[in-house]
Amino acid sequence: MLKGKTIGILGAGNMGEALLGGLVKACIIEPDQVIASRRNIDALERLKRVYGIRVTGDNRELVTKADVIVVALKPQVLPEVLDDVASQITHDKLVISIAAGISTGMLEAMFADHVPVVRVMPNVPALSGEGISPYCLGQYAREAHALMANEVFSAVGVTVMVDEDLMDPVTALSGTGPAYVFYLMEAMVEAGVEMGFPPIVARALVRQTFYGASKLLSEELRTPAQLRRMVTSPGGTTHAAITTLQSHDFVKIVKNAVFAANQRAHELGKGNRS
Ligand SMILES: NC(=O)c1ccc[n+]([C@@H]2O[C@H](COP(=O)([O-])OP(=O)(O)OC[C@H]3O[C@@H](n4cnc5c(N)ncnc54)[C@H](OP(=O)(O)O)[C@@H]3O)[C@@H](O)[C@H]2O)c1
Repeated sequence: MLKGKTIGILGAGNMGEALLGGLVKACIIEPDQVIASRRNIDALERLKRVYGIRVTGDNRELVTKADVIVVALKPQVLPEVLDDVASQITHDKLVISIAAGISTGMLEAMFADHVPVVRVMPNVPALSGEGISPYCLGQYAREAHALMANEVFSAVGVTVMVDEDLMDPVTALSGTGPAYVFYLMEAMVEAGVEMGFPPIVARALVRQTFYGASKLLSEELRTPAQLRRMVTSPGGTTHAAITTLQSHDFVKIVKNAVFAANQRAHELGKGNRS
């Protein structure tokens, strides 16, 4: 679907770079099919040197040259930046936005034309090519646009199509999710250090434990609950640990955290950014 197309990364920061890097490294497109913009000229020169892509400090040039425009700006600056280039974005282009909380309807309303829009919520493991990118379609987006978005984001992991009303829950679960995992890892490393391990060893033990558990889960047909029961013998060490977590309402605490993120995503989408 991307053959012969130019992909423009508008706001090539962390996520934008992860995407363009994934696309180039996976040979999904040629480097000269990518054009990236941001304000920092030194950072642009680095992107050009490292990935061999085209760069520009001029967002209008980017949207004119690109067939697929990936908007990887922070939500706070997106309206102003898009307003400046909106007149050059026509219905024959595809706009893919990863900005948290900005709906397809809000994006569509910024253009005079019936521009196809796809909204995506990748997560930070995209930086290592192992993200998950749920996406939804705006009212003018067709199957071909979904396939293009799919191809772009498959460069940094897995994709899944969802209804737009699930984008806030997606933000709360997989978008914010890596931070819950990092927090649990932090707590386990602290416990390891308190039991006498040097921090570097505690981090290695915890990191490989998470990696191994995730790999096992992805290769097994069993659910997390089934795997947990498999390793929990009555009266054993895991039983002692899980019973302690249960006595402190671990599941309820985690659910409440996810629900709070969902609520915040909803508020941000309504324009409450304070
Ligand atoms: N990071 C995540 O885990 C994650 C997950 C899902 C979705 N997202 C979404 O992805 C988007 C980007 O996040 P990020 O973490 O990649 O942020 P980021 O690293 O700050 O990237 C945003 C980029 O926009 C550029 N920019 C700002 N003003 C600009 C302008 N006027 N013209 C052109 N470029 C401009 C900035 O570069 P200059 O300062 O050089 O202009 C910056 O590099 C956000 O909307 C966020 O909600 C992020």
